[in-house]
Amino acid sequence: IPPPGLYYSSFPSGQQIPLMSKNESWKFPAGFWWGVASAAFQVEGAVKAEGRGPSIWDALLHRVEGYTVANQTGDITDNQYYLYKQDIARIAALGVKTYSFSISWSRVFPFGNGPVNELALAHYDDVINTCIEYGVEPSVTLYHWDLPLNLQNTYGGWLGPQIVDDFVAYAKVVFGRYGNRVARWFTVNEPIVFCDNYPLPDNYFTNTSIPKVQQPYWCGHHVILAHANAYHLAKSMGINGTVSFKTNGGYKIPLTNSSEDAIAVQRAWDFNEGWFANPIFLTGDYPQYLKEFVSGFLPEFTDAEKSLINGSADIFAHDAYTSQFYMAPDSGIAACTSNTSNPLYPSCANTTYTYTTADGGWNVGPAADPLSPWLHKATDWVPLFLHYIQDTWKPTGGIAVTEFGFAEPFEVLKTIKADILFDPIRSSYYREYMEAILIAISEGVDVKGTLAWSIVDNLEWNSGFQVKFGMQYVNLTTQERAYKASFFEYVNAFKLYGTDP
Ligand code: NOJ
Repeated sequence: IPPPGLYYSSFPSGQQIPLMSKNESWKFPAGFWWGVASAAFQVEGAVKAEGRGPSIWDALLHRVEGYTVANQTGDITDNQYYLYKQDIARIAALGVKTYSFSISWSRVFPFGNGPVNELALAHYDDVINTCIEYGVEPSVTLYHWDLPLNLQNTYGGWLGPQIVDDFVAYAKVVFGRYGNRVARWFTVNEPIVFCDNYPLPDNYFTNTSIPKVQQPYWCGHHVILAHANAYHLAKSMGINGTVSFKTNGGYKIPLTNSSEDAIAVQRAWDFNEGWFANPIFLTGDYPQYLKEFVSGFLPEFTDAEKSLINGSADIFAHDAYTSQFYMAPDSGIAACTSNTSNPLYPSCANTTYTYTTADGGWNVGPAADPLSPWLHKATDWVPLFLHYIQDTWKPTGGIAVTEFGFAEPFEVLKTIKADILFDPIRSSYYREYMEAILIAISEGVDVKGTLAWSIVDNLEWNSGFQVKFGMQYVNLTTQERAYKASFFEYVNAFKLYGTDP
């Protein structure tokens, strides 16, 4: 039971959660695609089945004591490798239009390069065919963080230039096999997380001579080149479906209207979305503040590379969970000062107002915080964010929110299934988020689709199974699934405002 005042502070006793009600001026355009998402390592399990090779995440979770709570691993997780038919049938039953999942590189190439594993290809054939049979469009991500361990061990993974060729060779096999059956492709998921933010143990990945401070930028550089080459390969192979790249980050709000805070916000855009979006959507090259602050070792693109990169995405695919305040580093705010010694982080998020972790959770700040109206209600920041993306990066193929979701506070502490399935805060989040998307559409933002994270509770990386983003509960012992209330809330938005049958 959550301590009173914390979790329920936004729902005083007696207050009902508002239901989404019909607003006549809102509607999703025809062809709007919506669905749910997952990633191979987080849901598949079966890590030794049918010739799969180990990935860096198997190594991290098995070899680094305490990396997840109770040393939880991805060995079994949701067992979706075997239960995919059930999982696809369950979303089809709710009318979900698309399922976005990732292919495990180390299943297809157990060593990352070299021999191809036909059993893995046959497996994903069936996953894709099952989606199609059930009327669910498959959307596929090629790289969602589970790098084949061998590539890390032989050349430092994303830090080695050979990764570009190896990724493209992997993409070629996958495009060749499934290219006529996948509605949309995402090459790489959230590179800023695996290149920079992720709390990997220090000195764990040692197979590189690149100094630690430079590593994020070489990783990012190779990611951009791998993506751009895979994009052009897809086009030259004439595959169906859009091809794009998933960036991530929250909407950035200056804490005050001082010019220092405005600069801090611009730096934050440049160091987050802009790092990847400026090259791919604007100039073929890195943004101004990145060049300025990482002077001396920011890798450079050749002119030929710049033209290859510029325009290499059919849609702006962004994972947007929340918003953050940014302020000048010397603003004296405690949450910010810890970063001020690092010149590479000239601005910082005020995490005090963004996440609460008291329960091991990961969520938007409580409504009681004085600044939280911005953070708590998606209707306040999502439309601004989508306008910002449209105005800044001018994607000609429109925008998709390819991940958004919410870890219900204290869910992990609940023991009664009926309580778990009733998730009022996550339900509000989805309702407000879909209202926000509809507002943005009504204001002229070209939003093409949304993917909610996630189809089921799953392995939340180094948070293990403590942090739950699922719209379906999973009993990890019996593998039973059950819809949570929030799933119906999400689906309801399309019942009310969808224009497609
Ligand atoms: C984004 C990542 O792509 C996904 O793997 C993760 O589980 C969610 N965010 C929630 O943290």
